[in-house]
Amino acid sequence: MNAPLLALDGVSKTYQENGQIVPAVTGISFSVADGEFVTLIGPSGCGKSTLFNLIVGLSNPDEGEIRLAGKVVRRRTGLFGYMPQRDLLLPWRTVLGNAILGPELSGEDLKAARREAVSLLPLFGLEGFGDAYPATLSGGMRQRAALLRTFLCHRDVMLLDEPFGALDAMTRRDLQGWLLGIWRQFNKTILFITHDVEEALFLSTRVIVLSPRPGRVALDLPIDLPQPREANTLVSARFVELKAHLLSTLDKKGRFSTLT
Ligand SMILES: Nc1ncnc2c1ncn2[C@@H]1O[C@H](COP(=O)(O)OP(=O)(O)O)[C@@H](O)[C@H]1O
Ligand SMILES: [Mg+2]
Repeated sequence: MNAPLLALDGVSKTYQENGQIVPAVTGISFSVADGEFVTLIGPSGCGKSTLFNLIVGLSNPDEGEIRLAGKVVRRRTGLFGYMPQRDLLLPWRTVLGNAILGPELSGEDLKAARREAVSLLPLFGLEGFGDAYPATLSGGMRQRAALLRTFLCHRDVMLLDEPFGALDAMTRRDLQGWLLGIWRQFNKTILFITHDVEEALFLSTRVIVLSPRPGRVALDLPIDLPQPREANTLVSARFVELKAHLLSTLDKKGRFSTLT
């Protein structure tokens, strides 16, 4: 059997805070296969963003290993598309100026990057807004522009840290369907973070529930809802069943209840 695209094996990370040692995550193991849509869910402060920073190589685990296609790769930065939590567009740049930041920073041909960005504007719901500044856009459009920027880094694996967290429910629902379209059309592998159980279920092929800090894997649940996901998915008996299962692990207040 081929090694998975990405594997975390016993990963732990501790921070020092005012001279105190704060364990953020401990003993995290899971793997992600090519083409999966895997969502991490867990209470605030359980180490979700920490895990993303570790995976993309912005920091290294204190213990454990991160393997890509079976190999430990020390220099992992540049291998992933990463949209960090509270990712901000540069306010002094237009949508297109923001979108091409990745290629620009890695010294690629700017004209080609711009052409590609322009050609993708309709798909990202930004047609006619290439020259608009972020402040003039709706929240949903800003998030789509930030996603376009991540997308234009041309990586097969994209890590998206609560990209829809600040949006109203309707916009969120629209963007979830749209993101699934992008995932399918371009055969991406997506790692996603959310606080929202329904969002996790609707989007994912697998959901990983983390316990409160220090985060551990409390549940690693394949989501066997039929593809493509659609409005009906949200009211199907299986959806409700899976939701109950997730909520019994992670109750609404974000507390950790015992697992079965
Ligand atoms: N750079 C850092 N230095 C010190 N503590 C940190 C740092 N980053 C995160 N933490 C702490 O680690 C814990 C996990 O944080 P984080 O990964 O952001 O959680 P989540 O994304 O699940 O809300 C929190 O207690 C947070 O305060
Ligand atoms: Mg976070």
